[in-house]
Amino acid sequence: MIQLINEFTVLLAEGTKALAATRCATPQLDAGFLLADLLGIERAAMLLDPPAMLPPGTAEIYRRRIARRVAGEPVHYITGKKEFYDHTFQVGPAVLIPRPETEEMVETVLKQFPSGAELYVADVGTGSGCIAISLGLERPVWHVTAVDLSGDALDIARINAARLGAANMSFVQSDLFTAVPGLFDIIVSNPPYIDFGVKDTLQVEVRKFEPPLALFAAERGLAVIRELVAQSAEHLKSGGFFFCEIGYDQKEAVRKFFDDGMWDDITFLKDISGHDRIVRAVRRP
Ligand SMILES: C[S@@+](CC[C@H](N)C(=O)[O-])C[C@H]1O[C@@H](n2cnc3c(N)ncnc32)[C@H](O)[C@@H]1O
Repeated sequence: MIQLINEFTVLLAEGTKALAATRCATPQLDAGFLLADLLGIERAAMLLDPPAMLPPGTAEIYRRRIARRVAGEPVHYITGKKEFYDHTFQVGPAVLIPRPETEEMVETVLKQFPSGAELYVADVGTGSGCIAISLGLERPVWHVTAVDLSGDALDIARINAARLGAANMSFVQSDLFTAVPGLFDIIVSNPPYIDFGVKDTLQVEVRKFEPPLALFAAERGLAVIRELVAQSAEHLKSGGFFFCEIGYDQKEAVRKFFDDGMWDDITFLKDISGHDRIVRAVRRP
């Protein structure tokens, strides 16, 4: 069989080789993903049916993308998008790249509230808006307030809500609940919870490129969760639900934050790896 050596094959091999020479764990995958995204096709489809010719300028743009990836930049910041809960979210350096494990939080909330009741929901630390918008799209009668301290993150969340057609959303720039009016039936959050002390052990993609405000918290990563639990008790309706993602080793410390007599049914939910990663609690009537 004659192998067709065309520009596509050469570029893909070149990108893979450049990434393999770095700490990139998935050079072939990333090289293919960056090229497929540039060509506007799925990676699998591109590999099954490689293009015979590339549009003019492809090589130059692709090499610039590979250079950014070689420098450690995550592929999703390079493409500017990330899939989450079956939707494509715009992402950029102002927001955390949504993680697959956070989809479990969306799933947990939706399972708990299957009905079409009109509920008021706050997502604190919304970033790209991935949790808030996914909930808003699944439950159009809910009123979802997306909160973030970062105005730049909120700009991206607003763009995502508009692009994905989530009309039942409002956006508030606030330090936790400081500037958020009203009471909620559900408060959901994926707050920053990484200990500043482990910063140097994180992958370069995270350490150098993702926003520190989205990652780190004082008090061994617990400060924002502690304050969020305290403030949520004041912003939940009686019988309202609190859901929060936590670090895999933070269960015992987090449990103590609910010892103020304001909470019932404090439950830790495990992720697929068996770690306690979501805390759920009910505001005592
Ligand atoms: C871990 S990221 C989560 C982003 C998004 N919800 C997700 O799951 O991908 C945490 C977010 O909390 C925001 N944040 C950090 N401290 C905050 C505070 N005190 N008040 C409000 N938002 C805060 C950050 O800007 C960041 O967008």
